[in-house]
Amino acid sequence: MQGKPPTPILTVENVSKTFRTRTGTIEALRDVSFNVLRNEICVLLGPSGCGKSTLLNIVAGLDTPSSGHMSLDGTPISGPGRDRGCVFQSYTSFPWLTVLENVEYGMKLNGVARKERREQALHYIDLVHLEKFRDAYPKGLSGGMKQRVAIARTLANTPEILLMDEPFGALDAETRWHMQEMLLEIVQKTQTTVLLVTHDIQEAILLADRITFLSSHPGRLKAVLDLDFKRGGEVHSKEELICIDGYLDCERQIVSLMRSESAQAE
Ligand SMILES: Nc1ncnc2c1ncn2[C@@H]1O[C@H](COP(=O)(O)OP(=O)(O)O)[C@@H](O)[C@H]1O
Ligand SMILES: [Mg+2]
Repeated sequence: MQGKPPTPILTVENVSKTFRTRTGTIEALRDVSFNVLRNEICVLLGPSGCGKSTLLNIVAGLDTPSSGHMSLDGTPISGPGRDRGCVFQSYTSFPWLTVLENVEYGMKLNGVARKERREQALHYIDLVHLEKFRDAYPKGLSGGMKQRVAIARTLANTPEILLMDEPFGALDAETRWHMQEMLLEIVQKTQTTVLLVTHDIQEAILLADRITFLSSHPGRLKAVLDLDFKRGGEVHSKEELICIDGYLDCERQIVSLMRSESAQAE
């Protein structure tokens, strides 16, 4: 890479989380530290139940850590904020609003003037290739399209970082590839920073600039993998990815990390 060294936008330092329930305590995260660099896609990968969603919720300000610190652009995170946009696995559009109205909604709340709001909404609808569906209601859309509305709606609020929790987990395999490739296209066009949670190894390798791997329960930082083999050329599709030298080694490394974690959990 050329130019200035990349700067961290999100820092997570020594974050631990223990849930207290009626039947006892559950240690979900133990002393997790990592950074997300500006304009990168950082993927949080690990076996089910290792605390990925817990960590993402804490970054989103929807939950608090038991100990540790986080900051976004140097400002400590102490609750939800417009600087973080969230896309979850379940669809979050308002069924009584059209696609266009859904994408405009956040800007309306934030007091953006009508004309600018419309222009911005159309721009983000174009970005997720839903031009033809701007006046449709979510009910009439497929799962993939609903998730595209959610992405457009979230990006329209111009967050500093996009937080995504298994965003394509509910979609069938083919739709999932399209969505993954569309996310890469959006990030390449808009220079958005993304922290994305998945337990899917192939999804992680296709999307990530870096992978932060969490060990199984309680979630601890096990490895940070720089996907250097992808640097120097933009990857647009799954077929391109699997032809790049280094892909198989990377997949092998992650599969063995995942296997060692599942062996320990048994
Ligand atoms: N609100 C909660 N109360 C109690 N335990 C929780 C809560 N949320 C998550 N957990 C527990 O914390 C652990 C991590 O969960 P989660 O973050 O959902 O994992 P992942 O997203 O990696 O599958 C699990 O053991 C889960 O049961
Ligand atoms: Mg989860």
